[in-house]
Amino acid sequence: MKCRKCSARAVINMRQHKLALCKTHFIAWMQEQTERFIHHYRMFARDERVLVAVSGGKDSLALWDILLTLGYRADGLYIDLGIDEGTAYSETSYACVRAFAARHPEAVLHTVDVAAVYGASIPEAAQVFHQGKPCSTCGLAKRHIMNRVAGDKGYSVLATGHNLDDEAATLLGNTLSWSVEYLRRQGPVLPPGEAGLVRKVKPLCRFYERETAAYALLRGIDYIYDECPFAADATSLRYKELLNALEQDSPGSKLRFYLNFLRAREQHPDFLPDEAGLTLHACPTCGQATTNDGDCTFCRMWDRVRRFKAQEVATTPA
Ligand code: AMP
Ligand code: FES
Ligand code: ZN
Ligand code: ZN
Repeated sequence: MKCRKCSARAVINMRQHKLALCKTHFIAWMQEQTERFIHHYRMFARDERVLVAVSGGKDSLALWDILLTLGYRADGLYIDLGIDEGTAYSETSYACVRAFAARHPEAVLHTVDVAAVYGASIPEAAQVFHQGKPCSTCGLAKRHIMNRVAGDKGYSVLATGHNLDDEAATLLGNTLSWSVEYLRRQGPVLPPGEAGLVRKVKPLCRFYERETAAYALLRGIDYIYDECPFAADATSLRYKELLNALEQDSPGSKLRFYLNFLRAREQHPDFLPDEAGLTLHACPTCGQATTNDGDCTFCRMWDRVRRFKAQEVATTPA
C-alpha cells in the first residue's frame, strides 16, 4: 500500500479515514490533527502552560512529544503509585518517563512519590480503604494529585493521554448504565468548575489506540508495554473488545459512536439534564472541591490509612 501524499510505502492504513500514510506523513498528520483538535475544542491557547500527566505509557508520552513538537509550553507530571507486585511496574514506567524528559531539557518533569508524601503506596492504601482493589484508590489519588500539582505550580490546564478506545469504552459503560452525571461530564474538555479544580483536556481523544502506539514507535519513544498488573479492569477491556469487533465489520463505528454522542449533547442541551444539582465546596483539609459534607474522599482515605498503620505499629509486639 502506498502513502496517499507521496506514494512512498505506507506504514499505516486508517480504514475509518480511508487514509494510508508513510512514516513522515503519518507523524506530520498526527501532529496537525492534534493541533486542529486543540483549536476545535478550545482546549488551550499558545501562551498557556500545560501540565501533561505522563504514566510512561504510549499515549501520554506521545501526547507530550506532540505538544513539545508543536511548540507548546508543556511540562510533565509523573505520579509514582508504588505498584510493583513482582513486575516493577512503577519503576519501569518512571524510567521511561525520565528517559523522555532527559531528551527534552526545555520541559520540566514534576514527580510525586505517593508513598513518600502520603505514607503508603496505592496497593497498601487500597488494602485499608477499598477492600484491596487498587483501581478505585488509584483513580481517586491520581485525580486529586493531578489537580493539586497543576494548581500549586500555576498550570491552568491539565492534559491526559486518553485515546478514542479509552473514551469510547467509557462512553459505552456510561451508556449501558445510563450514568447521566458521568455522561454530562465526559468529553474532550472538562471545564475548571469551582474550588481549586483546573481545566482538564484530552487532546488525543479522537485517535485510535493503534495510531498513538504507531506514533510512539515511529518517533522512537521508549514506553512501557505492560499494562498495570491490576489493570485487568475486566469491564473496560471487555468494552474495548466489543467496540473493536464492531469496528472490524464497520470501520469508523468507534469514532462515530463518540463523535455523534458529543454532537447530540451539543445540539440537545436538555438531553442530559443536571438533575443531580450537586453542589461543590472546598474540603476543609486540602481545599479541593468535594460534594461531601466535611473532608473530601481523598483526605478521608489517607486519614483512615494513617490511623490503621499507627494502630498496626501500636499492636505489633516489640
Ligand atoms: P489510565 O487511567 O491508566 O487509563 O490513564 C489515563 C491517563 O492518565 C494517561 O494517559 C495519563 O495521562 C494519566 N496517567 C495515568 N497514570 C499516571 C501516572 N502514574 N502519573 C501521571 N499520569 C498518569
Ligand atoms: Fe492504577 Fe493500575 S494504574 S491500579
Ligand atoms: Zn508520504
Ligand atoms: Zn481534601
